[in-house]
Amino acid sequence: MNTKSNIIEAINVRYSNLAHSSCCLSCGGAINHAHPQPGEICVDLGSGRGTDVLRMADEVGNNGYVYGIDISTGMIAKSRELSDKFGYTNVAFIQSDLETLPLPENSCDVIISNCTINHVNNKQKVFNEIYRILKPGGRCIISDIYSIGQVPLEYKNDPDAVAECWAGSIPKDEYLAIIAQAGFPEIVILEESEPYPKGAIYVASFTYKIVKPQ
Ligand SMILES: C[S@@+](CC[C@H](N)C(=O)[O-])C[C@H]1O[C@@H](n2cnc3c(N)ncnc32)[C@H](O)[C@@H]1O
Repeated sequence: MNTKSNIIEAINVRYSNLAHSSCCLSCGGAINHAHPQPGEICVDLGSGRGTDVLRMADEVGNNGYVYGIDISTGMIAKSRELSDKFGYTNVAFIQSDLETLPLPENSCDVIISNCTINHVNNKQKVFNEIYRILKPGGRCIISDIYSIGQVPLEYKNDPDAVAECWAGSIPKDEYLAIIAQAGFPEIVILEESEPYPKGAIYVASFTYKIVKPQ
């Protein structure tokens, strides 16, 4: 297996184990800035146990629809169990890597993501996909972390360190350049923390909003 497959395997193992715990997995509150409206089509990238998907499903109502996308078998099973238990008919949970989103172009009004994109190997592909599936004028609110300085290579390629939500992070200037390269003209930072230690490095958390031009 190459490094990317090893990382995906480590993420699957870690998050499948966490699916049945109640510990907080989030580094921010993207959903609090999304304001889904009745009838809108929403997506949560890295939907974990599915709680943000169900909250958005309540807000969009029966004329809207919410997709949760996650790579972990355990998280997808847990979120389907929850949505079935409460009888949701306007949600779907899809197991997929965020580098290839299983949704049509120009199909979504709102995308959120909490503390997930740092794990993904090719972040440019994720933002290109976000741009592709958003409708013109569609909005995307993301909470994530960035690294303070470059993550040393020994950690970047360590599957467990990436799965633990720090070693896959990149510096803020690189992060913002990737978003701009995908076609988003403006990045509005809504919240940002001071640097703090995580694993063997320092990171900061931020929440930002991007909008696909009309
Ligand atoms: C820190 S948890 C956050 C879960 C949820 N967003 C929350 O705030 O509670 C990260 C989630 O991202 C998923 N994930 C990690 N890498 C991924 C990838 N490449 N593609 C899709 N999902 C991924 C994990 O399985 C996990 O459920």
